[in-house]
Amino acid sequence: MSGLIDQFGRTATDLRMSLIDKCNLRCRYCMPAEGLDWLQKDQLLAAHEVIRLADIGISHLGIDKIRFTGGEPLVRADLVDILAGVHAAHPDVELSMTTNGINLERKIDDLVAAGLSRINVSLDTVCPETFAKITRRDRLTKVLSGLHSAKAAGLEPIKINAVLLRGINDQQAAELLTWTLEHGYALRFIEQMPLDADHKWKRDNMVTAKEIRAQISQVYTLTPHEEPRGSAPAELFDVRDKTTHEILGTVGIIASVTEPFCAECSRTRLTADAKVRSCLFSHEETDLMALLRSGASDEVIADAWRTAMWHKPKAHGQTKTGLGMPGFVQPERSMSAIGG
Ligand code: GTP
Ligand code: 5AD
Ligand code: SF4
Repeated sequence: MSGLIDQFGRTATDLRMSLIDKCNLRCRYCMPAEGLDWLQKDQLLAAHEVIRLADIGISHLGIDKIRFTGGEPLVRADLVDILAGVHAAHPDVELSMTTNGINLERKIDDLVAAGLSRINVSLDTVCPETFAKITRRDRLTKVLSGLHSAKAAGLEPIKINAVLLRGINDQQAAELLTWTLEHGYALRFIEQMPLDADHKWKRDNMVTAKEIRAQISQVYTLTPHEEPRGSAPAELFDVRDKTTHEILGTVGIIASVTEPFCAECSRTRLTADAKVRSCLFSHEETDLMALLRSGASDEVIADAWRTAMWHKPKAHGQTKTGLGMPGFVQPERSMSAIGG
């Protein structure tokens, strides 16, 4: 079996599958207030097609973990069937999901029973007004009850992804960390990337990893966490009490913009309409839907996927200087359509 190797020597073993482009929030760094032109139902992979592509990835291409994303994956009514189908065929493959947490409380037990082993939840603030400002929806309590029910269901660790927006929640890093430490969630801050549907992102206006570290350091002492980072995007720090030096937990910082980790990237992505994207920022997509629906064999589909990944760009931003620098062109699709 030959895996998903690219011309720069990286191997992708980590598959991220977007299941739907729709979402029930409108986070400013992702979606416009009015939403987007959603994919039609017949453009979306059906559950049995998701299960087949997952199987091709695992059986033919060396994929060893799968993360389901959106839009918002819980918006899909057949999410439990998808998880159960992939899990039944490949019980050893870790299945995880990145979600906004709304509707999680109602579905968590079925998801876990179907084979979900880990979740990452997007939560940028624990202040209800700030939450409504960022997501344009007043639904913080639903997210919090979703998080707590996931913990009660035994999922561990539960990671929280937070994006800081200038002038909105950029002063809340330490407050959010205190809350996550108290509740036993693993917080990671993510530098905002140019993947907003409005194309308003400005590098100069972004809250940087350095700034986040400085802000947290006013309240806690941060020391590098000893476990190696591998291909994980987050740089991990131990969070210590400033006077006792006792370790209270960890915090991760994903510096996708200022300290890109492209050289270690082990990801391949499939959009909800079955396009392979070798990188979040690539301008090329390879369609697998036409192959899938014209009766192509597993091997033919696997080959198309291999070819797409061979052309994975060396580094994102398509320029040597990086995201938002001269020469950078933002991809047409926003985060919700690519898959987080
Ligand atoms: P685990 O380590 O398995 O928990 O997964 P993860 O950290 O990859 O999952 P998650 O989807 O929560 O990713 C965290 C965030 O990192 C995403 O929401 C993106 O903002 C960012 N991210 C994910 N994949 C990429 C990538 O390929 N490139 C870059 N630059 N950023 C990414
Ligand atoms: N920059 C960084 N992270 C983003 N996310 C969505 N849009 C962006 C962006 N422009 C994150 C969300 C969620 C995951 C799917 O991606 O916070 O956790
Ligand atoms: Fe929805 Fe996630 Fe985009 Fe927020 S970031 S609008 S939760 S897809």
